[in-house]
Amino acid sequence: MAKNPQTERPNKHCWIGAKTGGGKSQLLRNELLPGRGVRALFWDIDTDHNCTRYTEKGAFLAALKSADASGKGYRIGWSGDDDPATFEWFCRAAWAVLNGNHETFIVCEEMADQGMGQRLPPYLRKLMVRGRKYGAVLITTTQRCQEVPKALITQAANRYVGLHEDQDARYLERAVGIKAADIEALEPLTFWHKGPEGTQKIRTKYRKFRP
Ligand SMILES: Nc1ncnc2c1ncn2[C@@H]1O[C@H](COP(=O)(O)OP(=O)(O)OP(=O)(O)O)[C@@H](O)[C@H]1O
Ligand SMILES: [Mg+2]
Repeated sequence: MAKNPQTERPNKHCWIGAKTGGGKSQLLRNELLPGRGVRALFWDIDTDHNCTRYTEKGAFLAALKSADASGKGYRIGWSGDDDPATFEWFCRAAWAVLNGNHETFIVCEEMADQGMGQRLPPYLRKLMVRGRKYGAVLITTTQRCQEVPKALITQAANRYVGLHEDQDARYLERAVGIKAADIEALEPLTFWHKGPEGTQKIRTKYRKFRP
């Protein structure tokens, strides 16, 4: 159960959208996740992140429990079953370790695969809507922006919009307020970042990664 709420914590949730090869995983690894000491959980079906990955629920929960009790940082990932029930289980496990005295990053790649339509599953919703004061920083990504709940895009404090085809670019112009033509003009590894301080174009450098 999430504990120690700190109401002054800011909303730091992020949403990253770009078509395949747009640079979402690179952006996440290079720019959005702090290095040492971070408490981070990864829904990492494609093994794109530097973390200790589990494919068995008991082992994942045991590792998380012991990492949480240690008081130190951890990077624990799930790369087992990839279905909506397992995703909900993962979000529930993340909710259980939230502690407002620390930040906990929860990285969830390719949300369109969960077939959510426009409805946020209950524990993902909790992380998104109530997680902030318990230190949650929820980072979701998708290639297919029209197949994830719009709330994932609109309720994130930081939106990173990468390369998209025309229909998706027009959808994002309406949802985020960045011109479709400016979105279509992006190159891989470049993004429009719309955050609390306004909108700017950012570029991340490709870095080789071996999972
Ligand atoms: N050897 C390389 N040298 C330079 N740039 C590279 C190299 N390999 C890949 N890239 C760049 O990195 C991009 C892929 O980045 P990344 O894996 O973060 O994309 P992604 O948006 O996460 O894709 P997906 O949705 O398929 O996971 C490529 O499109 C390319 O621009
Ligand atoms: Mg990726």
